[in-house]
Amino acid sequence: MNTPADDFLSAIDAIPAERLPALLRAMPKAELHIHIEGSLEPELIFALAARNGVALPYAGVDDLRRAYAFTDLQSFLDIYYAGASVLLHAQDFHDMAMAYFARAAADEVVRAELFFDPQTHTARGVPMRAVVEGLEGACREAKARHGIDAVLILCFLRHLSEEDAFATLEQAMPFLDRIVGVGLDSSELGHPPEKFARVFARCRELGLRLVAHAGEEGPPAYVRSALDVLRVERIDHGVQSVHDPELMERLARERIPLTVCPLSNQKLRVFPDLADHNLGRLLDAGIVATVNSDDPAYFGGYMNDNFLQVFAATGLTARHAYRLGRNAFEGSFADDAAKAAYLARLDAVFRSFA
Ligand code: HPA
Ligand code: ZN
Repeated sequence: MNTPADDFLSAIDAIPAERLPALLRAMPKAELHIHIEGSLEPELIFALAARNGVALPYAGVDDLRRAYAFTDLQSFLDIYYAGASVLLHAQDFHDMAMAYFARAAADEVVRAELFFDPQTHTARGVPMRAVVEGLEGACREAKARHGIDAVLILCFLRHLSEEDAFATLEQAMPFLDRIVGVGLDSSELGHPPEKFARVFARCRELGLRLVAHAGEEGPPAYVRSALDVLRVERIDHGVQSVHDPELMERLARERIPLTVCPLSNQKLRVFPDLADHNLGRLLDAGIVATVNSDDPAYFGGYMNDNFLQVFAATGLTARHAYRLGRNAFEGSFADDAAKAAYLARLDAVFRSFA
């Protein structure tokens, strides 16, 4: 990957602070950490519930929104899985993803790597085919309608067994050409990465790209075992790595991307005060950190909200914005030609502000 010239970086440093919000909105972005089920807005949850005849334990949209008072990851996951229960047919998955892509396009997202949680759906009798075909059709439409390059990453739920993950992989076998990789999500504490060593090894043999949530609430040791045992290429969250200086050095040296989600971390009380978020510290340590929305319908914001709020709260600069923009494209699973094209678009926008 080409390195930016010093005079270009100096010009970025000279961008006045009052132009920063406009720059953050305008810069082309890659979103690498979005659970598509976490993009279900309350209005769409109730519309799908009505369409599918699914009963919800909430009186309405406002009642549901009031329940979004999370204290930790688990308190969120309980509501997130309840919300996903309205998804039954391929059309539902398609409609959910299209609503996300409209928001993403408005935030200048040009590449999106979407997590989905098939076990949440197959456990309710929804066929894997409905899940994948609904989402995949939406990804194709996202390109035609919004110019967004979108790919799918199948996540295994870590609170379930490795045997369950293997059964899910088996169900996904006919659709592997529509999936770029696999990830690991859900309740982190007590479910270390090594629980899924064999299924990740199998996915690696199958040529799938590998990522895992680690170091969101869990310790740096989980980040290490995601790298050493699962052999993942990116760490989702990873913010607890700051408690392990040696790991920090390794992440920087090996250029392991961290897909950081500021508003998620605030709402799940990883950093209850956004001003305390360590994104700047990660970047300044040379780590390939990125900004992402995680579950935007639940955490109060899509990509631009995450950028604007964490920049305002922690005093990050235009140079940090440029670094974040590059990191996301470099850390994506796009091929080298696509990465070069994204980076050229990023540079053009920064040049227009410099
Ligand atoms: N962490 C773990 N699992 C998840 C998350 C998250 O932030 N969002 C959806 N599933
Ligand atoms: Zn996540």
